Amino acid sequence: MLQIQTEHAGVETDDVVRQLEEYTTRLREVRSSGAYTEFESSLHLPGDEDLLARVQAVAVQKVTPQLKYHIVVGIGGSNLGTKAVYDALMGYRDLMSITESPRLLFAETSDPEGLSQLLQLLETISTPEEVLVSVISKSGGTTETLANFEIIMERLGKRFGDVTSRVVAITDTGSKLATAAADKGIATLEMPLPVGGRYSVFSAVGLFPLLSVGIDIVALRRGAVASLERCLAKDGDNIAAQSAAILALQQKNGHHINDNFFFHPELESVGKWYRQLMGESVGKEQSLLGEVVHAGITPTVSLGSTDLHSVGQLYLGGPKDKLTTFVSAKQSAAVQVPTERVFPDLVPMISGKSAADIMSAILAGVKIAYQKAELPFMEVVLDTVDEESIGAFLQFKMLEMMYLGQLLGVNSFDQPNVESYKIETKRLLEGA
Ligand code: PA5
Repeated sequence: MLQIQTEHAGVETDDVVRQLEEYTTRLREVRSSGAYTEFESSLHLPGDEDLLARVQAVAVQKVTPQLKYHIVVGIGGSNLGTKAVYDALMGYRDLMSITESPRLLFAETSDPEGLSQLLQLLETISTPEEVLVSVISKSGGTTETLANFEIIMERLGKRFGDVTSRVVAITDTGSKLATAAADKGIATLEMPLPVGGRYSVFSAVGLFPLLSVGIDIVALRRGAVASLERCLAKDGDNIAAQSAAILALQQKNGHHINDNFFFHPELESVGKWYRQLMGESVGKEQSLLGEVVHAGITPTVSLGSTDLHSVGQLYLGGPKDKLTTFVSAKQSAAVQVPTERVFPDLVPMISGKSAADIMSAILAGVKIAYQKAELPFMEVVLDTVDEESIGAFLQFKMLEMMYLGQLLGVNSFDQPNVESYKIETKRLLEGA
């Protein structure tokens, strides 16, 4: 399902992977405990059958045959994983086929233009059964999420009266949002408290919206379980630990940027999900011992081949401060350049080649150029872009981040500095 290859300028990883054996044992124990009591408890989610049953039961009530738009109101850990999976499997196609339904729509930041367009779209529906609103917030108190939710609800209320039956709240057990939703009789799916937003894609946060639009969440979970088995087994092929070791060693070598270079445009949102995962997990002011360390590796996202035509020069000729992770998947050969061409003499070697052949040649060419320039890289190859492979990839990356936190000596599960701007924003709005 996933293959990982490395070309990282001779740095040995085996010793570092061995340092992680004790933590791997701990992760195995957390997983087998079946309880949501530890930071690492997200490891239970892909195998949690009660969770799956709860999500399916709410879907039976709320996903009507008329459903056209499921609006996911949430930000950061409350929407990036859902958007990653959705865009990989459906959203990219939505851009070309805007009539397909049901579709997920994401109300994320406080974006006046995007919200106006969303509200206009809601004018086109004729019954409340055509829309569903999931308000998703772990804390239950995120400014943008609650503002967007109220704006959407006001518009739906003006058109249809009380639409609370078309709302699902997804939040922490006992949060203020959970209490407020219960007061209004709004259906709620709860998140396990210790599971952080960026590790929550396999909780109701991701599963419910994805199921509502027909994504095979059972296969998604199956892929995640396969990565757990592979990366937690004794003497397993622990690609998560290997990849974390390479990231940590390369950082010591001065490669403070991890460029995630996707040769599959529909995986761009997977890259943005990873940016949060890495940014918040290992970007830390303090170490586990309380020392001020200002640790971190800066994650970036690039798209092949598009970004070769913008930042390729910088990557190949600029500062040697990046470890690149190329991500690709086997592609369909359905689309081909014809042999009878308008301009047969221009770039003649493309005649009869599929778009997939061209993309593969570009990726192969880039790797050769990186090798010649002695730029370190890893490569992850997915069998194909489907639920199982995406589930495997996301779980592999979440494990990688747990291991990387250990190697960098930081807490992979908190985000103390994110809170500071949230508090200031609320203070400014109170005063306005
Ligand atoms: O990790 C974080 O703290 C953030 O990125 C959150 O995911 C984001 O702020 C949304 O928070 P919440 O789910 O509490 O609304």
